[in-house]
Amino acid sequence: MLSVIYVSVADPLIRDKDIADILIAARRNNLRDGLTGALIYNGHNFMQLLEGPAKAVDTCLDVIRADPRHNGMTEIRRRIIEVRDFAEWSMLYDPGFAGYGENLARLAANARLDAEDEKMMSNFIALGRRYPGK
Ligand SMILES: Cc1cc2nc3c(=O)[nH]c(=O)nc-3n(C[C@H](O)[C@H](O)[C@H](O)COP(=O)(O)O)c2cc1C
Repeated sequence: MLSVIYVSVADPLIRDKDIADILIAARRNNLRDGLTGALIYNGHNFMQLLEGPAKAVDTCLDVIRADPRHNGMTEIRRRIIEVRDFAEWSMLYDPGFAGYGENLARLAANARLDAEDEKMMSNFIALGRRYPGK
């Protein structure tokens, strides 16, 4: 299986309703396609982890890349995995990453991970263990 994390810049006009719509479509399609993952949004940037069969992940990323509700999609981690981080989640959503605004903006701009970013990503990935079994 493949696991990809990307960051992107949200359309400035995006509303809560848009986030809700994204999650409805993502959860429906991901269940169908055997994909799992997590999404965070801090008011400016998205960060998403998408995992599952490699072909399905890349096909889905192509669809997401073309979505006008964000732009500048930049992959920050791509790796082959044996075990999913978000096995129970078609798409976990956590709006509680507002404090990471600077990290996400910097990642979206230059896609280089420093030590702070690594910690943030660890916290992000740990979400899958913090909310088990839902
Ligand atoms: C930040 C972001 C994350 C998204 N994540 C997913 C996703 O995980 N899975 C998915 O199918 N669509 C996702 N979408 C939505 C797709 O871009 C697209 O609107 C949707 O797949 C279309 O579904 P439909 O053809 O069933 O209407 C995401 C969009 C954005 C802006």
